[in-house]
Amino acid sequence: MTRTVYVNGEYLPETEAKVSIFDRAFLMADGVYEVTSVLGGKLIDFDGHLARLERSLTELDMPKPKAFDELLDIHRKLVELNGIDEGMVYLQVTRGAPGDRDFAFPDPETCEATLVLFTQNKPGLAENPVAKTGIKVISIEDIRWGRRDIKTVQLLYPSMGKMMAKKAGCDDAWLVEDGFVTEGTSNNAYIVKDGTIITRNLGTDILHGITRAAVLRFAREAQMKVEERPFTIAEAQGADEAFYTSASAFVMPVVEIDGESIGTGKPGDVATRLREIYLEESRKAGV
Ligand code: PDD
Repeated sequence: MTRTVYVNGEYLPETEAKVSIFDRAFLMADGVYEVTSVLGGKLIDFDGHLARLERSLTELDMPKPKAFDELLDIHRKLVELNGIDEGMVYLQVTRGAPGDRDFAFPDPETCEATLVLFTQNKPGLAENPVAKTGIKVISIEDIRWGRRDIKTVQLLYPSMGKMMAKKAGCDDAWLVEDGFVTEGTSNNAYIVKDGTIITRNLGTDILHGITRAAVLRFAREAQMKVEERPFTIAEAQGADEAFYTSASAFVMPVVEIDGESIGTGKPGDVATRLREIYLEESRKAGV
């Protein structure tokens, strides 16, 4: 089925949607993005994603797209037009297409931001069978840039990390800087020890996950203990549980790190419970 996508004010069949070869995201990776999940046809954590998008734009001094205030309507319309029950909406804003290649930012008065959105249909996203068995990760050096709190489209190294994991017979990679885990290639990383959930504190070295914020809030509401601090791979390998969070995977148990089984080698109780709570509460709050 041909998707209907959104490009700069128009809803078009995906085969007719176009952006310029001079677009700054194509030439300079000068773009930011958001991924919002859809459950039961409703957008999950939409306000959080919108707030983070605004922050990414501000941090990069990138102009807001003209349709910024209509983003909820655009998301909803795409979900409806494409009949999405479970899946994702991908949104990208770029600094626009100034008509030539230049390192200097174009004048925002004459060069409008590019805005693109499309849906990804993922039936069975919530009931993903992988969450019942858990996934395996490898660790790799975190050599990304220093502003990982901005959600930019510079995803080459995370893609390479995913491929390194696949080559090693694993599902994902956890990134390590100065001996401590920062996050996963496209998710935030956690361990559980003696009932305490441990995840790296916010800063410029990780993305401030919207799912992370919600999951930590639910954990605290359920009287679980949370410590926001860095941890090492050795500490993770000695933990009772490990898991990650993201908008597209929710809460995903991790059962092996660098060939070492975590806890029982099966998804742990904390991760399983948090996944249930997150899915239940998010469905209720979807817009
Ligand atoms: N990735 N850390 C990184 C590096 C990420 O790319 C992501 C999200 C997260 C989790 O953030 P959130 O909970 O807001 O999704 C953490 C998205 C899903 C992606 O690139 O597809």
